[in-house]
Amino acid sequence: MKTLKLDISKSGIALSDEMKAAALEANALLHSGRGAGNDFLGWVHLPSSIDDKQIAAIEQAAAHLREKADLIVCIGIGGSYLGAKAVLEAMSDPFKLLHKRQDAPTVVFAGQNISEDYIHELMEASKEHSLGAIVISKSGTTTEPAIAFRLIKAEIEKRYGKAEAAQRIVAVTDRARGALKTLATQEGYPTFVIPDDVGGRYSVLTPVGLLPLAAAGVDIAALVHGAQAMERATAEGVSFDENPAAVYAATRNALYKEGKKIEILGSYEPKLQYVNEWWKQLYGESEGKQGKGIFPASVTLTADLHSMGQYIQEGERTLFETIISVAQPAHEVRIDADDENLDGLNFLAGKRISEVNRMAELGVQLAHIDGGVPNIRIEIPRIEAEAVGALLYFFEKACGISGYLLGVNPFDQPGVEAYKKNMFALLDKPGYEEASKAIKARL
Ligand code: PA5
Repeated sequence: MKTLKLDISKSGIALSDEMKAAALEANALLHSGRGAGNDFLGWVHLPSSIDDKQIAAIEQAAAHLREKADLIVCIGIGGSYLGAKAVLEAMSDPFKLLHKRQDAPTVVFAGQNISEDYIHELMEASKEHSLGAIVISKSGTTTEPAIAFRLIKAEIEKRYGKAEAAQRIVAVTDRARGALKTLATQEGYPTFVIPDDVGGRYSVLTPVGLLPLAAAGVDIAALVHGAQAMERATAEGVSFDENPAAVYAATRNALYKEGKKIEILGSYEPKLQYVNEWWKQLYGESEGKQGKGIFPASVTLTADLHSMGQYIQEGERTLFETIISVAQPAHEVRIDADDENLDGLNFLAGKRISEVNRMAELGVQLAHIDGGVPNIRIEIPRIEAEAVGALLYFFEKACGISGYLLGVNPFDQPGVEAYKKNMFALLDKPGYEEASKAIKARL
């Protein structure tokens, strides 16, 4: 099955031979490990390195948690959160909780914010459920998940005792270092490793993403198969025209050079909303540095046509749009005829909703092009695990290529430290005494 089709015919870009060669060279750099950030290239061959044994170990731990708990709180932030959230939203029935019978445990997320109300409401709701947790942090010291885990751990221990807590908590962290690794060893939590050479935002296909997804009942083997197919399709040596990641990276960089500084990722399937969020982290953290980078924004359509649509159509002409188009819905719903036809919709009677959605997509594409917004289209056959796995790896590979084309290190994120220093100074963290005085004087 072809898991992804890329169409740049409406981008208005005729790629130069120079840009094509540069994209292939950037791809080769990812493979040779001779580019910037080369100690974080473990994701390049990650899909093909995952074997049945690893999948089975993850599925076994997930099955154990599923037996124990009907509510699994997955704790993490940034790259230790968004991948699992994105795939889970994509693969889930949004109305699952309205069904009386629940076949799989509910996986919810915590530690991705510091909202007192969020954690309180989660703790309250958890009282009605048998509780388990997956705690994910590579460094083990990130404030947001550490706070959430303290609370969830205490609740689990209070309810079930320490020994049983070790049956209900799984840690995903560094192989050897960090506070979470130390705690997991001390408490005897089953532990999965985040490889040293895979950064947070490229880690969805490690246990960071795979464990919570398996716990929620997602077919992680199919997800990985899709990513493996895309790894092959974007491998070194694949020609430019055959390599969708190279073509996408080259096209968006050519658009950037023409002054298109904002890329809006959109989809006509609301289930893909968190894929947008995952993508924003991937591209924002990878490219937004040294005063450069395309600003990654997102819309969910057609909802946002009734809000952002005006700006996209007629606002400042610094935008281009990338649409994830889904060829086939999973279900069939047709529009009925109505005797009175007061809403005037009888011309649609008998049509599938997806047909209307498709015409909206095509109509919007042309309207936006006419309004000066170039369009890139990524088509996936269905929202199913294999296609989503391919899509994730496609975006990762394109991001690595794109970062090199832009001339930045796509695998560091020095800018995310600034807020942490200020927050710790404001909270009087030991060691921040001088910074504390200085920042308080500025308030
Ligand atoms: O991409 C990144 O590196 C970040 O978003 C991290 O994933 C995030 O800050 C969480 O870090 P950690 O897993 O160390 O708690």
